[in-house]
Amino acid sequence: MSKAFIAAAGAALIALGASGLAWSEHDDDDGDRKGHREGKGLMARGDLARVTNAHYRAECGGCHFAYQPGLLPAASWAQVMGTLDNHFGDDATLDPAVTAELLTYLEGNAADRNDRVRSRAFAARPIQGEGPPRITQTAYFQRKHDEVPVRYVKNNPKVGSFGNCQACHRGADTGDFSEDQVNIPGVGRFED
Ligand code: HEC
Ligand code: HEC
Repeated sequence: MSKAFIAAAGAALIALGASGLAWSEHDDDDGDRKGHREGKGLMARGDLARVTNAHYRAECGGCHFAYQPGLLPAASWAQVMGTLDNHFGDDATLDPAVTAELLTYLEGNAADRNDRVRSRAFAARPIQGEGPPRITQTAYFQRKHDEVPVRYVKNNPKVGSFGNCQACHRGADTGDFSEDQVNIPGVGRFED
């Protein structure tokens, strides 16, 4: 083996090791690290994949924001779709064929079934709370909103609840939940 080959192989190994490290560093975070914001391609991966299923948008986007599949893990979507007759106090039952189609769509694009860093963050830990799983009861959601005062949410007629993502996140529909796109009605940009 030539010296040059050994040197090249060594360099390749080091490069591999370094990129492996860079990824694991993002695994449990949200794509919000500096490195991610700098490169455009990488930043886009911090966004959630948009809603692409027209039936989903029509059936699940009527009463509230059409939550991206990447906001909950597959098992949670299965629970949500399996309890539509008692959906947070509403009956959201659908035709069985439609329910099956939407479940396939949700599971296939769920937070733990795609590699977007923000989705990974939503899937990172089990969900707390009673009833069907909520995005707002994920550990990541709570960590990101624990400093937002109640008066900006429940007592704010233009918001009402944390489930109303698009009221505060101007880019919600395109999957952009980054801090610099936040605009709380009547409050504006939030500085913590
Ligand atoms: C008839 C109205 C209605 C329809 C249709 C509906 N929902 Fe809901 N959904 C609700 C209500 C009410 C809540 C609770 C809102 C709250 O407490 O802030 C809710 C909450 C949710 C939440 C939890 C949001 C959070 O707080 O994190 C998810 C997830 C959800 N719905 C998914 C779906 C899906 C998927 C569909 C389509 C199969 C759907 N919804 C259709 C009324 C509806
Ligand atoms: C009352 C307004 C409000 C609502 C409603 C709201 N958010 Fe937020 N969200 C914020 C604010 C403010 C921040 C930034 C917090 C900070 O700067 O510490 C934030 C931060 C985030 C972040 C982290 C952004 C980053 O760059 O680190 C994510 C992801 C997020 N929200 C998702 C959601 C989702 C999903 C929903 C709906 C289920 C939602 N938010 C509903 C106000 C809101």
